[in-house]
Amino acid sequence: MALRLGDEAPNFTAQTTQGEIDFHQWLGDSWGVFFSHPADFTPVCTTELGTVAKYRDAFNQRNVKTIAISVDPLESHKTWINDINETQNTVVDYPIIADPERKVSTLYDMIHPNASETFTVRSVFVIGPDKKIKLTLTYPAATGRNFDEILRVIDSLQLTANYQVATPANWKDGEDVIVTAAVKTEDIPAKFPKGHTIVKPYLRTTPQPNK
Ligand code: BEZ
Repeated sequence: MALRLGDEAPNFTAQTTQGEIDFHQWLGDSWGVFFSHPADFTPVCTTELGTVAKYRDAFNQRNVKTIAISVDPLESHKTWINDINETQNTVVDYPIIADPERKVSTLYDMIHPNASETFTVRSVFVIGPDKKIKLTLTYPAATGRNFDEILRVIDSLQLTANYQVATPANWKDGEDVIVTAAVKTEDIPAKFPKGHTIVKPYLRTTPQPNK
């Protein structure tokens, strides 16, 4: 069955370009972005893995580890990393899982037979420090993912985990947020002293509390 938000991210051991890992141990107390790509030595995948490498500082600032997977073997991943580094002008310093037997891809439902019998689709799982799945995304093979959006969602997840707020459409870090329904309007000034706006009784906004 497909994995759903709030489910525990299944644990596994796997061979990666950085040695064998136990997934939960490797995650430790960090957040995780676990993403699949259809195949090594393909153009869209090359740009995606390069982009993730270039966003290293942004992921580190948010305490996020990244890890990729495809059904290609380890030697293929290792050779392809040279191409990614060369063409994308970066250094891939995160692990890529080799899953030729499709064990992990199957565990995470990353092979969608009506799209491709053979390859993993472009799945993304954002996993919290509690090992629970916080976000799932599935993109088609011909569409590269937007990693700015993944960072944006992580900003929202980390904010809403700590404050009684939600983030509106197209929100970006630093913009006003929505006070959740759990907070009574009369309690807003004490909880959100930077001010608030009542647009409707069910739509109350406040400056981002942790900025
Ligand atoms: C690519 O990464 O370019 C790609 C991979 C599989 C199918 C289509 C495109």
